[in-house]
Amino acid sequence: MAHPLDQALDFTDRQVLVVGGSSGIGNGIAQAFRARGAAVHVCGTRPSAADYEGAAGSDLAGLGYSPLDVSSTTAIEAWQPPFSRLDVLVLSQGMVLYGRREYSNPGFAQVLQVNLNSLMACALKFQPMLQAAAGSLIVISSTAAFQSTRGNPAYNASKAGAVGLVRTLGDAWARDGIRVNGIAPGFVATKMTEVTTANPERLAGTLRAIPMGRLGTPVDMAGVALFLASPLAAYVCGQTLPVDGGLLLP
Ligand SMILES: NC(=O)c1ccc[n+]([C@@H]2O[C@H](COP(=O)([O-])OP(=O)(O)OC[C@H]3O[C@@H](n4cnc5c(N)ncnc54)[C@H](OP(=O)(O)O)[C@@H]3O)[C@@H](O)[C@H]2O)c1
Repeated sequence: MAHPLDQALDFTDRQVLVVGGSSGIGNGIAQAFRARGAAVHVCGTRPSAADYEGAAGSDLAGLGYSPLDVSSTTAIEAWQPPFSRLDVLVLSQGMVLYGRREYSNPGFAQVLQVNLNSLMACALKFQPMLQAAAGSLIVISSTAAFQSTRGNPAYNASKAGAVGLVRTLGDAWARDGIRVNGIAPGFVATKMTEVTTANPERLAGTLRAIPMGRLGTPVDMAGVALFLASPLAAYVCGQTLPVDGGLLLP
């Protein structure tokens, strides 16, 4: 007899949108949903998909693409997506400023807009479609939400805010049939973390801090995203799961 969880990771006929799916973690998540049968659309900052050809960490093959600058709430509100049904919304957009630029009001505000305000704007925009599909929202925050990141107060506050937003929307929208959850990656080699991975000394220090002794990959994150969007996680609501090789344990 069929088990209720047979085919749990089959996303055939599902529509997925990954904001920040043009590169890195979001791109890995987008490609994983595509490999499991979903129609997947991604957004990024460049004008067209062709502008990502050859870019490390960007594989747009088989994905729909639209430019969308999430530093503008107006742009998010105005964007007309090329689909009218949405089963899974993944919010993986993010930025960080180095060189103490987050210790200035403009820098702080910019990071909060891209990493936190835009989450709410995207969530609000797609809430009706997610409700209609009894869908799932997945927010990519960070282990930074749970420990200090001395050089990056804005990044830290934005990620802690994302965890709170997931908790609250998880609670508020559960009654609408929408499951809201999050992933808190530890350290993943992407263009955002090149500043560390390209520096052998910094990289060695980072690896020493990870109990599993290796960096995470976009595929590591994608596995958890598939789980959270699937019936395997049918009763998981408002949680942000650290996916960090044990980084937060010591
Ligand atoms: N890498 C890590 O170790 C790590 C750890 C914890 C959490 N995270 C989080 O994971 C998420 C993905 O980051 P990543 O590491 O995969 O870095 P990434 O490769 O730089 O990806 C960031 C994504 O966000 C998009 N983006 C940035 N600013 C945007 C804007 N103003 N409007 C629209 N899209 C914008 C980028 O678009 P373009 O491709 O056009 O640049 C890209 O798709 C972020 O939320 C990040 O904070 C990463």
